[in-house]
Amino acid sequence: MCGIIAYIGNKEAYPILIKGLQRLEYRGYDSAGIALMNGSLNIYKKRGKVQELVDFAKHQNISGSSGIGHTRWATHGKPDDINAHPHCSSDGRLTLVHNGIIENYSPIKHALEKKGHTFKSQTDTEVLVHLIEEVQKQDNLPIEEAVRVALSKVVGAYAIVVIDKNDPDKLVAARKGSPLVVGIGDDEFFLASDGTPIVEYTKKVVYLEDEHIATMHRNGKYEIRTIDNEVHTPFVDELNMEIERMEKGGYDYFMLKEIYEQPTTIQDAMRGRINAEEGWVRLGGMDDHVDIVKDAQRFIILGCGTSWHAGLIAEYLFEDLARIPVEVEYASEFRYRNPVITDKDVVIAISQSGETADTYAALELAKKNGALLYGIVNVVGSSIARLTDAGSYIHCGPEIGVASTKAFTAQVTLLTLMALQIGHERGTISDEYFKKLLIELENIPEKVKKVLDSNDKIKYIAAEIKDSPNAMYLGRGYNFPIALEGALKLKEISYIHAEGYPAAEMKHGPIALIDENMPVIVIATNKSLNDKIVSNIQEVKARKGVVLAIVTEGDNEISRIADYTIEIPDTEEPFTPLLSVIPLQLLSYYIAVMRGCNVDQPRNLAKSVTVE
Ligand code: M6R
Repeated sequence: MCGIIAYIGNKEAYPILIKGLQRLEYRGYDSAGIALMNGSLNIYKKRGKVQELVDFAKHQNISGSSGIGHTRWATHGKPDDINAHPHCSSDGRLTLVHNGIIENYSPIKHALEKKGHTFKSQTDTEVLVHLIEEVQKQDNLPIEEAVRVALSKVVGAYAIVVIDKNDPDKLVAARKGSPLVVGIGDDEFFLASDGTPIVEYTKKVVYLEDEHIATMHRNGKYEIRTIDNEVHTPFVDELNMEIERMEKGGYDYFMLKEIYEQPTTIQDAMRGRINAEEGWVRLGGMDDHVDIVKDAQRFIILGCGTSWHAGLIAEYLFEDLARIPVEVEYASEFRYRNPVITDKDVVIAISQSGETADTYAALELAKKNGALLYGIVNVVGSSIARLTDAGSYIHCGPEIGVASTKAFTAQVTLLTLMALQIGHERGTISDEYFKKLLIELENIPEKVKKVLDSNDKIKYIAAEIKDSPNAMYLGRGYNFPIALEGALKLKEISYIHAEGYPAAEMKHGPIALIDENMPVIVIATNKSLNDKIVSNIQEVKARKGVVLAIVTEGDNEISRIADYTIEIPDTEEPFTPLLSVIPLQLLSYYIAVMRGCNVDQPRNLAKSVTVE
């Protein structure tokens, strides 16, 4: 949440900052702002998208070879020009951008007000820059030292970059709980919330660690110190990203591009990890821990939103194939309970961004209690990837649309591989069934392509139901989490109220909502529970509900009773979620587009939720 970009070197900073903000816009789009150092400090900030800032800056002085930029997801204070970052100290000497939340900003603000500070905005960020100013003035400290001392008084999460007008050949950055990457060029530095704005300039990066403060000098030198003032020798990593994967590539929206990438991304998640012909599955991340994992007394799976839905599917997979008890928890609830965790538990964290604050905090709690932490993460080098003891990247490339699509199917693919490997090693699936599943899993990318061929039909159905104010999604077994995911996709991008339910639960309450205006989307591809699903559909039809059924190819019985059907190819039951979710992603996409919504940047949301 919130995106930060900064530059210091010999190039013009403005184009780097703007392009960087556009790349980071998925992290928040309530306002955008920049500060450019050019003898004097010029600050421009505008409510709304980065484009508003660009239009405004056209008529301003945009020269300068260092600067900072920010795209905001509002926490403290409404989205407007005043609350937009950067924020300044009272005398205008310091300027700062911030991602995170300063939890004790209120007492600090009162103390500063008593010393004569006045505040223009409602943000916690402005309090932080005034605090640094106060500390700096008291002891006439260099900026990096003032930042360090001030941060030791702060409770909360932050990634910050600060400019001191009186020390213009330096940028000072720090992080705790919110990500910040330092890109190292030739006598120049880039700072950003993730690698996407940096990769076209340099691949050499340092992932700043919690409570570390970095000082970048225009002459190409840099230094990192801990908050306790110890010098830290950084590890220089290599960014592994392709620029094309961050472009829309001819699609109207990133979300559509990402939906269509799924045959490839599912393949990428499996690459080098499965060989059906030779009959093996192997996740490199488990190599050093395989005994602990396969002998775990319990798996605890943590995630939020769509990643939590992937976890629910994993519960079916692990219990079915590996016979290990599983609990799937919302990270945000888990972290504030007093959960029973032991060193015999394996905790699996699922996160696309690897930065979700609740998931991170829940993992810290599990770590303290001695559980092995295993990460299923997309963003390489992210905080969760670094906190976990072991893990597997899902390798689906940057996911930019706020609604998660390709990350979800890649997560489910990875969890499927994990369940197969563990099940095989534990001997809970027969060799014959194991081989059969491997062969079928390798066919899934081709089958996803076939589902994508239903695009026109899905578009037609979307037009038919786009004006409904509500929708209900029903599924059983492996497809119950898909009902939840379908409902989440629809509500987050089209603003239609949607609920997902286990199909059999409908009669315990939600059935009261059904009438001729209620579209009911039934995911009816489970062979084992088909008769039961048919009965549920009959119950909906008897109350005049409009049924869209996702069915297995050739299922004429359901096709006869449903108002609309979309077919998916036949597959083994544990793999149906990988196919049945695709039409639901497309359905939400088309409904949202037809309702005039900004699919990639839905209101109030951000891609990477780094605050509680
Ligand atoms: O980056 P994470 O996977 O940890 O993010 C979790 C959720 O914030 C995320 O899945 C969210 O629910 C998506 N907008 C859903 O499309």
